[in-house]
Amino acid sequence: MKKVKVNVADCNEGQMLASDIFDETGRLIVVKNTAINDYIKNRLLEMGIKSIYVFYNTGNHSNPVEFKESYEDDVNLVKEIINELSSGKGLNYENVKLLSDNIYESVKTNYEIIDCLNEVKRVDEYTYYHSLNVSLYSMLIGRWLELSEESIKDLIQAGILHDVGKCRISKEILNKKDALLPDEFEKIKMHPVYGYVMAKTIPNLNDDIPQAILTHHEREDGSGYPFGLKGDELNLYSKIIAISDVYDALTSERAYKSRQTPFDSLRTIQNIGYGYFDTKILMTFLSNISSYYIGSKVLMNTGDSGYVAYVDPLRVYYPIVCIKSDYYDLSKEKSLKIDRML
Ligand SMILES: [Fe+2]
Repeated sequence: MKKVKVNVADCNEGQMLASDIFDETGRLIVVKNTAINDYIKNRLLEMGIKSIYVFYNTGNHSNPVEFKESYEDDVNLVKEIINELSSGKGLNYENVKLLSDNIYESVKTNYEIIDCLNEVKRVDEYTYYHSLNVSLYSMLIGRWLELSEESIKDLIQAGILHDVGKCRISKEILNKKDALLPDEFEKIKMHPVYGYVMAKTIPNLNDDIPQAILTHHEREDGSGYPFGLKGDELNLYSKIIAISDVYDALTSERAYKSRQTPFDSLRTIQNIGYGYFDTKILMTFLSNISSYYIGSKVLMNTGDSGYVAYVDPLRVYYPIVCIKSDYYDLSKEKSLKIDRML
């Protein structure tokens, strides 16, 4: 997309940043692809930043209705793929490839994807929605890491298939409201192995994909399952899927828990993340995804509604919120909390 240099003072609301902005100490202040608003504009001017690069003609970047329709179609295709594979009939690789090409090619901006993922959270048929969501989050991370088209399509396929092994685990265990008993957890821990075996039967699937399915619950420090492998033994796809998987689980409603706001989820993932996840991928994920929530409407614990005016890429869970034209820094206003996204 074409970039143009503009004076900050002349920037229009909604114009998208075409490059990261750092302060004079090299600290990341605003991440590329953030939509400019008055708060950000004033902050840049206060810092003495007079000009920035923005994408040319990107004011109207979203068509959420269209994306939500194709999202529901995609969920049905994921369902077909998982059911076909779990029935043991064997799966035609073309079906997986077609869906991943479709997801990749359709004109979906990152905004549309995040908007939709934020809204469509279903308790029923969780595995199908979760699988599609993980593939979409992984595609975004792949874009932010500037991976090749081929790798991003592989990532989408790995996301669709990552939990396919769960079809070998009983529904009672998967949807159990209470804490799992040790032997039940041992059964859950087998789903990456079942998924690996199933994915291996798909002809023409890139070998890194079954490998990513097998290791998507392994952690950098060796604390994951089923083998307790460490970071240098895991492939890139598995490291990316691991983050998408946990983030989607945190922001989703389940039988045994209600969903967290994205900001609470970002805090949880950052708290547990170091040591668990690849640091570079985690930082890329946190700083980029948080910027997409700028402009989102929120309901506060006081009953007031407002919108997210700014998110510091290095402190993603304390946004600046605008309520009735006043700005509140949630890192300072400790009694003020976001109850839910609107
Ligand atoms: Fe899993």
